[in-house]
Amino acid sequence: MSTEPVTHTTAADALRAEILDLSRRYFAEAFPEHPFDRANPRVPVSGKKLDADDLVNLLEASLDLWLTAGRYAEAFEKRFAKEVFGLRHSLLVNSGSAANLVAFSALTSPTLNDRRLQPGDEVITAATGFPTTVNPIIQNQCVPVFLDVDVPTYNIDTSRLEEALSPRTKAVMVAHTLGNPFDLGTIGDFCREHDLWLVEDCCDALGATYDGEHVGRTGMFATTSFYPAHHITMGEGGAVITNNGRMKTLAESFRDWGRDCWCAPGKENTCGKRFGQQFGTLPFGYDHKYVYSHIGYNLKATDMQAAIGMSQLDKLDGFIAARKHNFARLYAGLEDVQDVYLRPEATPRSDPSWFGFPLAVRPDGPLERNDVVRVLDQRGIATRLVFAGNLLRQPAYADIEHRVVGTLEGADYTMNNVLWLGVFPGLGDAHIDYVLEVLHDMARNGAHPE
Ligand SMILES: Cc1ncc(COP(=O)(O)O)c(C=O)c1O
Repeated sequence: MSTEPVTHTTAADALRAEILDLSRRYFAEAFPEHPFDRANPRVPVSGKKLDADDLVNLLEASLDLWLTAGRYAEAFEKRFAKEVFGLRHSLLVNSGSAANLVAFSALTSPTLNDRRLQPGDEVITAATGFPTTVNPIIQNQCVPVFLDVDVPTYNIDTSRLEEALSPRTKAVMVAHTLGNPFDLGTIGDFCREHDLWLVEDCCDALGATYDGEHVGRTGMFATTSFYPAHHITMGEGGAVITNNGRMKTLAESFRDWGRDCWCAPGKENTCGKRFGQQFGTLPFGYDHKYVYSHIGYNLKATDMQAAIGMSQLDKLDGFIAARKHNFARLYAGLEDVQDVYLRPEATPRSDPSWFGFPLAVRPDGPLERNDVVRVLDQRGIATRLVFAGNLLRQPAYADIEHRVVGTLEGADYTMNNVLWLGVFPGLGDAHIDYVLEVLHDMARNGAHPE
C-alpha cells in the first residue's frame, strides 16, 4: 500500500490496528466461500469478488473520517492510469456513466476554440450497447450517427465509416463491447485522417489489448466503470483516463462543478495566484476557488470507494486471467453444438478481456433465445442481454435527433437472438461445467420452460 496513513495518537493507532485485525477475522466468519452446489445450483452472471484486504481498506478510509476524495483517491488515480493503461492521468468519478459524461463534456470546452464539440455536431457511434455510451452525445445537443454492429464480435461495423462522415462529423464515441476491442486500427486511422476526437468506452474492457497494447490508448479519452459487474469494483465508481495534461484539466473542471481552480480537496492556492488573476468581467483578484470556466457537474467519488479500488487493483491481473479461463472453457465446450449456438469471436488483432460470454441462439436452429433464457433462469443460471439491444428501438430514443448509416440488421439480430453468460472470477470450473451441461441438454432435447 503506497499511501501514508494519517497521523494519530499512539492509543488511536493501537485501536485502529485492533479494529483492522478484527475485521479480517470478521470477514473470514461472515463471508465464507460457497462452493458450487449441484443440489441448489446458482450461476450468477456477474458479482463482486471481495476479500479481507478490501474490507480492511474500506475501514482504513472510514477511520480517517476524511470522507471526500483524499489520500486513497490520489494514490488510485496515479496507479490506475499508469499500471493499467500506461498513461499519465486518471480521474476518479462516481460511475462509468459519469466518466463518459465528463470525457465527452471536456471536448465541448470553449477553450478548445473551433475544435470544441458544439450543438448540432455529429458523433459516430454504434447502435448496440449500453445507453450511457451514447447519452452524453445527446445530453450535449450533438447528433449521434449510428452504425450497425458486426455479429459475432458485437462491435461497431466499420465498413461504412466513410459513408457516415459529413462536414459536421467531429468525433467517434464507442465502446469495446463486452471486453472485445473494436477495430481500433480502422477507427484510429479514420479519426486521425479526418481530425476527429475519439472517446473509447473501456467500461467493460480492462485488460483487453489490440495489437498488444491496452485499449484506451488511441482515443483522447478512455473511460471505465467500477460497478460490481466490472473487472474491478468500488461499488459505484468510474474513471476518465487521458495522456493529455490539458484534457485532464478540462475533464477535472467538468467533474468538479466547472471550476477553473484545480486545487485538491482541502488544499488552496495550488496555482500560487489565488487572489491575483483577472477572469471575464469579475473584479480583479476574485478568489480563484470560485471562478467557473465551464457549465460543470459534481461527479466526484469518495475516499472509501478509492480505498477499495486500491486493493482491487492488486488483484486485477488474476481477475482478468480467471475471466479468460472461464471464457475459453465455455468456448471450447460449445464446439459440438455450433448448429444451435453461435459463439462470439474476438476482433482481429485483439486479445479481449471478456466481460461476459455473448451467445447467439441461431434463428435458423431449433431453439428460441427467449426460451433458452427462461430455461437457464429456471435452472439457476443467470443471463443478460447485450444491454439496450438496438438502442433506437428503446422508448427513450424514439424522438432523438439522429442519423442511421446503412441498416441495423446486426443490432436487430443481437437484440433478438443474443444473450450473455457470466465469466466473472466468482465462477469456477464446476459452474462452467454445469452451464455447458444445461446448454447441451437444450441443444439435444429442446428448450421447454415450465
Ligand atoms: C459499455 C458501458 N459503458 C458504460 C457503462 C456505465 O457504467 P456505470 O454503471 O458505472 O454507470 C456500462 C455499464 O455496465 C457499460 O457496460
